[in-house]
Amino acid sequence: MQLTAPLDMHLHLRDGEMLENIAKSSAHTFSGAIIMPNLVPPVSTKEEVVAYKERIMKAVGDETFTPYMTLFFKPSYDKSFLESVKDEITAIKLYPAGITTNSEGGVSGFDVEELRPALTAMAELNIPLCVHGETNGFVMDREAEFVSIYEKLATAFPKLKIIMEHITTKESVQALDKYENLYATITLHHLLITLDDVAGGMLQPHLFCKPIAKRPEDRSALLKVALEAHPKVMFGSDSAPHPRHAKEACGCAAGVFTAPIALQVLAELFEKENASLENLQAFVSDNAHRIYAVTPPKKTIILEKRSFKVPSDYNGVVPMYADEEIAYSIKEVQK
Ligand code: NCD
Ligand code: ZN
Repeated sequence: MQLTAPLDMHLHLRDGEMLENIAKSSAHTFSGAIIMPNLVPPVSTKEEVVAYKERIMKAVGDETFTPYMTLFFKPSYDKSFLESVKDEITAIKLYPAGITTNSEGGVSGFDVEELRPALTAMAELNIPLCVHGETNGFVMDREAEFVSIYEKLATAFPKLKIIMEHITTKESVQALDKYENLYATITLHHLLITLDDVAGGMLQPHLFCKPIAKRPEDRSALLKVALEAHPKVMFGSDSAPHPRHAKEACGCAAGVFTAPIALQVLAELFEKENASLENLQAFVSDNAHRIYAVTPPKKTIILEKRSFKVPSDYNGVVPMYADEEIAYSIKEVQK
């Protein structure tokens, strides 16, 4: 099985030692990725984004990989600032204040008039807006409650490309077809697990993430659009590494680390569900090319059906399926 120029349209690469330790897990098998800006402090100036990209390129070493950089959205971004930084970024990521890891400086209230100058300028400059769509309501309802905010933004800014990040509910899937300018990323883990897998038996900290995995009918709705490679849906792993001690702790950090196994497990899933290789190719690459108008570097990943035992950790970060067997292995990466 062969995939061309896979892209991960939602990735946390972190910084410092963690970046050095995990960057190659993505850079080896993916041609590029949208890099989320939730560092401390968040990436929000041209200097910061340029310097972060350099640190990523250094950590990537000789792998062929394009980091598509993002800024952390602030309502104060104006057109002249956005014009000056436009060539360095591919998108801007909006976090509701305090909703997830390092999102304290995010947006609260979602007042259209307050957001109008920045979002109008982004639409004019063709900079997509990536959104972590959760309210601060009851944890299982946060994303469904946020759909009305997506609708408000999509209506108020019809020329702005809005990407609903890591969708987990049937409500978000429905919103996709109602608004021309709404798109979505879907993670690997939300195609595979429900809340039952996280908390139905012994608590599984390595499957705890934001948004939390939802109900079987939600997972089915996500699977349907992923397997048919719905043209507005892209793969975004939301691979979010935390050191083992931050996950296996009283007060567990949110995030599932899937980067090293993502393509292999997607291959297994699409095969099991009788979906075509063409659809997998569209889901992990072609849809994103079209939606983001990016041209990733050439890379061909050859996967083979040979069982692979997932390591217990990658430099101290526990991956999904640690110590378990998955059906596919990476045979070769051609650049
Ligand atoms: C992400 C992280 O750790 O940065 N965690 C997560 O559970 N997905 C933040 C995020 O994308 O929400
Ligand atoms: Zn994320």
